[in-house]
Amino acid sequence: MEFKICEVLRVKRLGKKFYEIYVKYEEEPEPGTFAMVWLPDFEAIPLSFAGWTNGIARFLVKVVGPTTAALYNATKVGISKPLGRRAPIPLSTPTYVAGGVGVAPFLYMKEKWGGKILYGARTKEEIPKFIKEEIDEIATEDGSIGFKGNVVDMFFTKPKTRDVYVCGPYPMIEYFRKRAKEIGNIKAYFSTERPVKCGIGICGACTINGKLLCKEPWILMS
Ligand code: FES
Repeated sequence: MEFKICEVLRVKRLGKKFYEIYVKYEEEPEPGTFAMVWLPDFEAIPLSFAGWTNGIARFLVKVVGPTTAALYNATKVGISKPLGRRAPIPLSTPTYVAGGVGVAPFLYMKEKWGGKILYGARTKEEIPKFIKEEIDEIATEDGSIGFKGNVVDMFFTKPKTRDVYVCGPYPMIEYFRKRAKEIGNIKAYFSTERPVKCGIGICGACTINGKLLCKEPWILMS
């Protein structure tokens, strides 16, 4: 895979585990796509585009291992071209249901298409700082802020919308699927966390429901 060396312009810590980085990146990505991000001596990792304005891309990072920890101090990074596929364009005001770092693509999709982001975390302390300004409603499992319970349950307390996108850990997706089946008549696209190694459909590491997530990051929930 080819990487373009890009300058890191700004890094902002958003809490214990989260930070965001702004990087010089000329090509405007489509909402819902991602890039492989590479640092010398580390594995390349997939990061969703969380924004793009005038040649500056924004990524939201959760520290989960050595690469995501090292990226915080990088001044230059290798970034691939945008990968995956644009999320399906909504036909009406969309609702985004996010868990954890799964909110990253929604920040960009909301910027482009409007809509409401519902965000879930275990507790208030786990919510990245920016989140209170950019998202519309919060659910915490311990009830320390917002709706008490998980974000999927919060979603199902609301009137149905036609365009729904869900992104977060796989158990959250499975729970959404179960609830949606009980209620019926909900069309939603999902994306989730999967190991992405090659990012271009060769290695099969990202297979889910018989599909390659790196080629098709937004899957219609069935
Ligand atoms: S990451 Fe290799 S096929 Fe998707």
